[in-house]
Amino acid sequence: METKGRELTFSILKYSPLNKEDKPEFVEFKLEETIGMTLFIALNIIREQMDASLAFDFVCRAGICGSCGMVINGKPKLACRTLTADYKDGKIQLMPMPAFELIQDLSVNTGKWMDDMSNRVESWIHSNDPADISKIEEKIEPDVADEVFELDRCIECGLCVSSCATALMRPNFVGAVGLNRIARFSVDPHDNRRDEDFYELIGDDNGIFGCMSLMGCEDHCPKNLPLQEKIAYLRRKMVKLR
Ligand code: SF4
Ligand code: FES
Repeated sequence: METKGRELTFSILKYSPLNKEDKPEFVEFKLEETIGMTLFIALNIIREQMDASLAFDFVCRAGICGSCGMVINGKPKLACRTLTADYKDGKIQLMPMPAFELIQDLSVNTGKWMDDMSNRVESWIHSNDPADISKIEEKIEPDVADEVFELDRCIECGLCVSSCATALMRPNFVGAVGLNRIARFSVDPHDNRRDEDFYELIGDDNGIFGCMSLMGCEDHCPKNLPLQEKIAYLRRKMVKLR
């Protein structure tokens, strides 16, 4: 006997800023839920069967590429890792993540934001040694390497930025993702920068002193990075240099 899944109701904010005539509006779509359905699957069904113009981003479908962030019933989440079964009443509202440039509908330009942030925090190893690619990489202590790898797990999804009140008020705030990046380079012995050098980059309200410790970043980070601990660690260092 064929069993029918329950009916899901999606309410999706549609808007194309490039079309001067367009106005943001919620559009409703109904579809039948299947076992193990993720928002990735649901959105593809909607696009294939109901609205070919619906814009959203996915690449890996596995929580790795960081491209599918959106606001799901008021919370920033990765759509590919979100099950429709988690929404008991079957009603799911989708909006694009705030703080990023809107491309269309649920698609935002996190890449541009991350690129700007990376330049602002100079997100690369600064070394006084001349580059020599034939040299064997310098060894570092295993516990230090572990800490660098741990902080390098960020997938640049932007959920921390879209859940941060400071990032919404200050367009130049580097966000938890930027501060995490500084924490990563400050523990890496390959990077010769001193605390004073990091202070030049983040010693103001667009950096470490802009954080209001509301914890939205850590609450929504899909990689469970210790964002508030690292922000507190950096703040203790930077406040001494004020
Ligand atoms: S810190 Fe977490 S929430 Fe922020 S961009 Fe990285 S993985 Fe995403
Ligand atoms: S599609 Fe890559 S993280 Fe969701």
